[in-house]
Amino acid sequence: MFAVIKIASDTLPERYNPSLFNYFYETFPEGFIVAEFGKKIIGFIVGLPINDSTAKLLMLSVSKDYRKKQIGSNLLNQFVKVVNKKKIEDIELEVRTRNKEAIDFYKKHNFQIIEKLTDYYQNGEAGYIMKKNINF
Ligand SMILES: CC(C)(COP(=O)(O)OP(=O)(O)OC[C@H]1O[C@@H](n2cnc3c(N)ncnc32)[C@H](O)[C@@H]1OP(=O)(O)O)[C@@H](O)C(=O)NCCC(=O)NCCS
Repeated sequence: MFAVIKIASDTLPERYNPSLFNYFYETFPEGFIVAEFGKKIIGFIVGLPINDSTAKLLMLSVSKDYRKKQIGSNLLNQFVKVVNKKKIEDIELEVRTRNKEAIDFYKKHNFQIIEKLTDYYQNGEAGYIMKKNINF
C-alpha cells in the first residue's frame, strides 16, 4: 500500500489522506488494481460501484518513467472487466480541465465529457465529468 500512496502523492495533484486507500481497498478490493514491473509497483487504478449501474473511477496513475507503454490502458481495461461482471453499464470520472494528458487518454478510451464543474477542486480549478458506456 505504501508504494501506491507514494505514486499517488508523486503524480496526482490532489492530496489524499492515506487511510482513504485502505478504505477503498476494503470497500471494493477488485477495483483496486496495481501494475508491477518486476517487484516494483509502477501504476494503479482505484474505483468502485456507486449505484447499480454506475462505477466511479477515483484514481489512475502510472509512474512517469513508465508512461506511454499501454500500462494505463491495461489498468483501465482490467477495471472495465471487473465492473462489467457486476452488470455496471457506465463508468464516470472527474478530471481537471487542464490535465490534457489524462483527458486525451480518456478520450482515446471513448470517454466523453458530459459536464463541466467550475470551481471544483481545492484550489478553485475546474473539472470535467467524463463518462463511458461499457454495456457490451
Ligand atoms: C493518464 C495516464 C494514467 C496514462 O497512462 P499511460 O500508461 O501513459 O497511457 P497509455 O500508454 O495506456 O496511453 C494510451 C493512449 O492514451 C493517450 N495518451 C496517453 N498519454 C498521453 C499524453 N501524454 N498525451 C496525449 N495522449 C496521451 C494516447 O492516445 C495513448 O495511445 P498511444 O500510446 O497509441 O499514443 C498517465 O499519463 C498518468 O499517470 N498521468 C498522471 C496522473 C493522472 O493525471 N491521472 C488521471 C487523473 S484523473
